[in-house]
Amino acid sequence: MLRAHYPFYLANEPQTPNQDLIVYDKFTGEVATRVAIADAAVIDQAIAAAEQATEPMRKLPSWKRQSILNHCVKRFQERAEELAQALCVEAGKPIKDARGEVTRLIDTFKIAAEEAVRIGGEVIPMDITPRAEGYTGMWKRVPIGPCSFISPFNFPLNLAAHKVAPAIAAGCPFVLKPASLTPIGAIIIGEVLAETDLPKGAFSILPCHRDGADLFTTDDRLKLLSFTGSPEVGWQLKAKAGKKPVVLELGGNAACIVDQGANLDDAVSRIVFGAYYQSGQSCISVQRILVHEDHYDEVRDKLTAAVKALPSGDPKDEQTFIGPMISEKEAIRLHNWVLDATSNGATLLAGGERQGAMLQATLLENVDPSLDVNTQEAFGPVAILSRFKDFDAVLQEVNNSAFGLQAGIFTRDIYKIQKAWDELEVGGVVIGDVPSWRVDHMLRGCKRQWFGS
Ligand code: SIN
Repeated sequence: MLRAHYPFYLANEPQTPNQDLIVYDKFTGEVATRVAIADAAVIDQAIAAAEQATEPMRKLPSWKRQSILNHCVKRFQERAEELAQALCVEAGKPIKDARGEVTRLIDTFKIAAEEAVRIGGEVIPMDITPRAEGYTGMWKRVPIGPCSFISPFNFPLNLAAHKVAPAIAAGCPFVLKPASLTPIGAIIIGEVLAETDLPKGAFSILPCHRDGADLFTTDDRLKLLSFTGSPEVGWQLKAKAGKKPVVLELGGNAACIVDQGANLDDAVSRIVFGAYYQSGQSCISVQRILVHEDHYDEVRDKLTAAVKALPSGDPKDEQTFIGPMISEKEAIRLHNWVLDATSNGATLLAGGERQGAMLQATLLENVDPSLDVNTQEAFGPVAILSRFKDFDAVLQEVNNSAFGLQAGIFTRDIYKIQKAWDELEVGGVVIGDVPSWRVDHMLRGCKRQWFGS
């Protein structure tokens, strides 16, 4: 379904210069397509065009911004299967997960379309003292200006959409650098944006290598940087970004607690999903599973059987649950962590084998907590099981992490829910479900509680 060649988008226009980036089918390793690649001069032009578009974007009335976003919703619905197939090939994402991501792309643009017409402000009484009598304050939100976006490989559509759609809603031009391994989803977003009457220069979508890539971070004409990806790269970019605000969505080694009295079948089936969907390549994938000792043996047996039964193979096959990781290099990295764990006393309950980029869905227990597979972000199909006795101690265990995106907890005890909500140092506590659960208007970086059924 992929075409043989894709352009990049410079100031709303498709362009096909001589240089190409090869995009591989992540399962077969064959060349899937090619995409035009931008160099430093092109990126510079894109930033200049975005700067020129600042005023026209600022003046775009909210009904127009909404109608542009609604056009995208309609076109993504019409092109949904093409988008899913593109993700399946370029990311090796199992087709069911790819279709799920397209649904989320559509949701993200719908949410942005709704928000576009309710970006307001506040009226604040100023007469708090006799000298301020008769005064009223007002503030309103204004577009920050040209934005720089860098999106990752694991959700090539939706994590680009998390940046692009709000920028359009808010009236900000942008330049986007999609992940070099998976640029096609973002380029198709560009094709759809090019059908709208966004002001000239409002968007550029530019796959690139190192040449010029720094401009996305360092150029002062760009007024905000939003990056999703690894902590290592994210913090480096923040250090280089100068005065512009930086929005980072980085990694995690999310924990999920199964407490006394939980519905174990439900918990097991959700954990299998949360730990292994799209081969665990999600920042909120379940990595640490903490089970109350009363249920440990039963959960371990059920989970082991379920993980062993996960169909793996070609992501284009409708039955496939475990496809390839994004690259053999990443699969080797994680496989080495697993080998390190087993050679340090861990028990392999399921999986553990690798062939090329295909790493089996792997479940470990008795893992030395100081090892990478526990302390670092696995970002692959590997999870660790451990038991707990004391609820307070398990909350500390969840917090014993350099990360803190989300945590999940299966319990029916309202007091424990409250305690988890108060004490877990994470952006979101998901109750009755896995930390991997997300809907696209959720905010991170603030304490929230999400109730599963
Ligand atoms: C991520 O992996 O960065 C995002 C996960 C999600 O949106 O589901």
